[in-house]
Amino acid sequence: MDNTAFQQVIHLQNVQFTWANNPSPTLVIDQLQVQRGEHLFIKGPSGCGKSTLLGLLTGINQAQNGSVTILGEDLSQLSSRQRDRFRADNIGYIFQQFNLLPYLSVIDNVTLPCRFSKQRLTRVAAPLEQRAEELLTKLHLSPALLHKPVVELSIGQQQRVAAARALIGNPPLIIADEPTSSLDHDNRTAFIELLLEQANQVDATLVFVSHDPTLEPLFDRNIDLRQVNQAGELA
Ligand SMILES: Nc1ncnc2c1ncn2[C@@H]1O[C@H](COP(=O)(O)OP(=O)(O)O)[C@@H](O)[C@H]1O
Ligand SMILES: [Mg+2]
Repeated sequence: MDNTAFQQVIHLQNVQFTWANNPSPTLVIDQLQVQRGEHLFIKGPSGCGKSTLLGLLTGINQAQNGSVTILGEDLSQLSSRQRDRFRADNIGYIFQQFNLLPYLSVIDNVTLPCRFSKQRLTRVAAPLEQRAEELLTKLHLSPALLHKPVVELSIGQQQRVAAARALIGNPPLIIADEPTSSLDHDNRTAFIELLLEQANQVDATLVFVSHDPTLEPLFDRNIDLRQVNQAGELA
């Protein structure tokens, strides 16, 4: 199936998610839609459920009620193995703590998703390492660092590596979970501008969550999770 045919990249309908051993739901969302190519910012204070929501979008968390449809695929209809495959093929994820493999080189970290997904590898037109270098250059990482283990990099440099890893192989959906919280404001803005530019170049949809509302103006659309999430109102 050609996932790029879908104009609606994310569609949540009547979704309810409750963590195990929790008496009340963390998320109750009637409707959330994200169109192809959109750059969406989701804000909300710490603990309001942003990471839980991203877990639903990636199929890591499973809603007890409602449907989570990503690129036309209803995730609840997939087995856990199929969800893992779907995620590897279609979603570039930037974690808050980056989750890089510390003793692998920069290049090896960036190319890793293409070793787990043939679809992503197939979408890389140039030789894989060349494409990794190109992305890192566009994200302003010095070529001198390419073969260093990532433990030797600063936080700002590691963040660029994490972004290149999410972008390689053109996944149609890029998800970022507060990847800028350890940077100062100017560096945050510069990083997000580069990320948006690269997401545009590969025609990716971007969902970026953060508790920092000053980043809002950089995005096409902003949502406060507390406005779409009715969980608190049920209590
Ligand atoms: N793995 C988990 N198990 C149980 N409860 C969790 C887990 N992760 C998050 N929660 C709870 O879900 C709520 C939302 O957390 P989270 O989605 O991490 O918020 P945010 O990312 O906005 O800071 C919190 O009350 C948190 O305690
Ligand atoms: Mg979080």
